[in-house]
Amino acid sequence: MTDTHIIDDAREQALLRRYWYAASYSSALGAGPVSVTILGEDIVIVRLDGELVASRDQCPHRGAPLSGGIVVNHEGGECLRCPYHALHFDGTGAAVHLPGAPGDRLPSRVNLALLPCEERHGIVWVCLDAAPLGDIPAWPAFDRPDVARFQSDLEVWQAMPSRISENFNDLAHLSIIHAATFGDASNTAVPAETLTVSDDGHTITHSVTMPQLDRQTHDGPLVPVRVAYTYVHAMAFSTELCIQYDDVRTEWIQMTATPLTATSALVFQQSARNFDIDGDIAAWREFQITVNGEDRDLLEVLKPKRIAIDGSESGEIALSVDAFTIAYRRLWRQVLGQT
Ligand code: FES
Ligand SMILES: [Fe+2]
Repeated sequence: MTDTHIIDDAREQALLRRYWYAASYSSALGAGPVSVTILGEDIVIVRLDGELVASRDQCPHRGAPLSGGIVVNHEGGECLRCPYHALHFDGTGAAVHLPGAPGDRLPSRVNLALLPCEERHGIVWVCLDAAPLGDIPAWPAFDRPDVARFQSDLEVWQAMPSRISENFNDLAHLSIIHAATFGDASNTAVPAETLTVSDDGHTITHSVTMPQLDRQTHDGPLVPVRVAYTYVHAMAFSTELCIQYDDVRTEWIQMTATPLTATSALVFQQSARNFDIDGDIAAWREFQITVNGEDRDLLEVLKPKRIAIDGSESGEIALSVDAFTIAYRRLWRQVLGQT
């Protein structure tokens, strides 16, 4: 880890360490440990006896990356074994065995400090702070038995995670950037939206009836329609968009950006729908990946690359179509002011 990986604003870095971030798709967590870098800090996650364990990816003994270790059985339970001198850590983080000194009582200082880590809605979430701010986003649609679903491949986007959230909640770009996929280029005016910030300051909800092209079949005719969008944004960088096509057909698009550095993010995107359950899931997934790519191409060339998370002194100009971004940056200003 070098300083260039750390967000240059110490207050922002300290605040961001307190939110939940997606570390891995559940399906990607196999029998061994995995590593992820969040805000420049290397984290190891492993499943021991079915329970998730997360910690700094650094052995307290001599600093070996624990993600290079393996899961072993020790006295009836699973342990993570360090790749260097094979210290064994159990599911509580306690160092319980050192092969080089098998009879020794190990000092508690060599135990791992565990981080909050939970599996929810197909994703493993972690927080770098023992006392997380807010909750893991509630995305129960992904778990429903009556939906079709997919997860996009993980991608690293060279963009600020807050800009990724701002873009996902941005209405005015839909008919422009996504004109080749679902945006209605002949209907660019953004309708009025209703927006509320929760009393605890952890979520922003906004709803709008938007014109778009009906892409429910992906290979059928592109019919202009108006559909009900409801976005729920959970701080810091997680949003679910619920699209109500009609009284029956609903689609949920979930996206979360995990800050790797100040200007890069690991992007998780997954979708669920309660219609066309047996339809062509691969085509639906490809379509969404194309849409995500349209956003990514634009986000990676925005200037300046790095601004304060609350937009202060960025020189950017808010316009009437920016309801979400205005509320989001105001919220960041408030939260930063309280730290
Ligand atoms: S560095 Fe991990 S056991 Fe020595
Ligand atoms: Fe977009």
